[in-house]
Amino acid sequence: MSTVLSEPKLPSGVQLPIYMDNHATTPLDPRVLEAMLPYFTDKFGNAASRNHSFGWEAEKAVDLAREQIAKLIGATAKEIIFTSGATESDNLAIKGIGEMYRERGNHIITQVTEHKAILDTCKRMEKQGYRVTYLPVNADGLIEMDDLKRAIDDKTILVTIMFANNEIGVIQPIAEIGKLCHEKGILFHTDAVQAVGKIPVDVNAMNIDVLSLSGHKIYGPKGVGALYVRRRNPRVQIAAQMDGGGHERGMRSGTLNVPGIVGLGAACEISRLEMEEEAAKLSAMRDRLREKLESNLDFVHVNGSMEHHLPGNLNMSFIHVEGESLLMGINDIAVSSGSACTSATLEPSYVLKALGLGDDVAHSSIRFGLGRFNTQAEVDYVADKVIDVVQKLRELSPLYEMAKEGIDLTKVQWQAH
Ligand SMILES: Cc1ncc(COP(=O)(O)O)c(C=O)c1O
Repeated sequence: MSTVLSEPKLPSGVQLPIYMDNHATTPLDPRVLEAMLPYFTDKFGNAASRNHSFGWEAEKAVDLAREQIAKLIGATAKEIIFTSGATESDNLAIKGIGEMYRERGNHIITQVTEHKAILDTCKRMEKQGYRVTYLPVNADGLIEMDDLKRAIDDKTILVTIMFANNEIGVIQPIAEIGKLCHEKGILFHTDAVQAVGKIPVDVNAMNIDVLSLSGHKIYGPKGVGALYVRRRNPRVQIAAQMDGGGHERGMRSGTLNVPGIVGLGAACEISRLEMEEEAAKLSAMRDRLREKLESNLDFVHVNGSMEHHLPGNLNMSFIHVEGESLLMGINDIAVSSGSACTSATLEPSYVLKALGLGDDVAHSSIRFGLGRFNTQAEVDYVADKVIDVVQKLRELSPLYEMAKEGIDLTKVQWQAH
């Protein structure tokens, strides 16, 4: 006779696995899907077909989406260029501005905790004869305005600094940066993928000239994004990186992804209307998670300034715990770790290292990304589970025992046998 062991009962409202990795991607909001569906079937026209109603219908839908996106960031519809996502938007911004303003100068300023879509584009620009300054960040993950001021010279054509970081949720002083760039006559681009729809973004109040955003981070579809390109004061020019039919004011050729664009528009509209309430809910849940973890565990710390922080982000290090074991222990919860898998090796996150964290502390870090569909019951489950796993792992850890006894582990001389 076999005995069937039953799983411990889950709290009501909690279903496993729990998705708490909303900086990586977000689920599609059912309202967004509903708006998109007709554009896969009956309304299949090409928005560039000027001769018949199928084309006009598609164009009308694209125009509405342009309005919805523009409204969320304080822009005008004509300033929105559709792309395949933020990676393309970032590439188009940096390469397109670099090429267009080459006569004026060849210097670009960015910072070390940018997404790879920015960093790797800048590296390519360096190979092509541009000079790039990578500003450091302080222990809070913020750039220092004085460093930026010092980095600017008479050959600087572009400053590209992200709005909010995808790992640690830290929000850079965007309005201050924009003001400085405008005073100096330098273009300012921001990768605002993690900020748009989550916190207020206003391209005019913040003096932003070019801005990247993406559909799948705001409960819209994957494979669609946009680039905001300022048309007045100053009129920004971008050299196309893709040749073809001259769509999108000549800046980005290619037949428009109408269902995706409709979805991106709907996602922006929902975010604009619900952002305030959603941000309050998310930050309350995030604070609850943080408080539970901090009050039940020692040797934990939060990464990145909590004063300048996205509502749904919590990045925490669980010191004296091996990161991979921690992730294995909580494998019914989808979160990200402080390690980036590159081929066979586990590299510690370059963002956490830039804050001054050592490799082992970076490896023991977890990014919790709360989103629209998370509930308080899930937050409580996640907190209890993490506490339980961390405590169990530490019971097996001699390092934790030593640290608890007050031994400074950095001063221990280990002997090889
Ligand atoms: C800050 C940031 N920039 C750019 C990207 C790339 O966006 P996409 O997936 O739309 O290409 C991401 C997404 O991972 C991101 O978080």
